[in-house]
Amino acid sequence: MKFENLEELRQACMECRLCGLSNSRTHVVFGKGNPHAQIMFIGEGPGEQEDVTGEPFVGRAGRLLDKYFYAMDISRDEIYIANMVKCRPPQNRDPSPEEQDMCLQHLREQVRLIKPKMIICLGRIAAQKLIDPGFKVTKQHGEWMERNGVLMMGTFHPASLLRNPAQKPAALEDFVKIRDKAAELNIRTKK
Ligand code: URA
Repeated sequence: MKFENLEELRQACMECRLCGLSNSRTHVVFGKGNPHAQIMFIGEGPGEQEDVTGEPFVGRAGRLLDKYFYAMDISRDEIYIANMVKCRPPQNRDPSPEEQDMCLQHLREQVRLIKPKMIICLGRIAAQKLIDPGFKVTKQHGEWMERNGVLMMGTFHPASLLRNPAQKPAALEDFVKIRDKAAELNIRTKK
């Protein structure tokens, strides 16, 4: 289904019952940021804090993500953050392929309406769905690819960085690439 604008899409998502995750959610986490953002970051799905607040990446992983944003002069107001699924999977399990497929129609509309020039996939779930089903984050992180005229990159999920701090320098290098590419393409990352 096509929507005229993000607000209409948001309303549809608030009432969405396409998959079982809607039964256990507290809030739909629609996504947040500049509706005309040129860079979108896409995570996996809401965790506990996100489910409670209705906002993406506000828990521990989000606070780590903010450190990378800060270091690279990226402001949350200027970019857009969304997730593969908009409702929390119980116990933070991976969203099932069916749940992802149901939610993908909303995400595709969100991307169509926002029209970003760059999409950064945070972690395996987003990268495998949006870039390449065989995407290996440890091998392919930081590589630029183009899909339908949009520049795409997969990098580490911040929750994975919390579990494996040894990956943090590699993640920082990816964020440097994001900053440099944004500068090269005249993409504003800060108000
Ligand atoms: N992890 C995600 O993938 N997304 C969030 O919004 C929070 C944690």
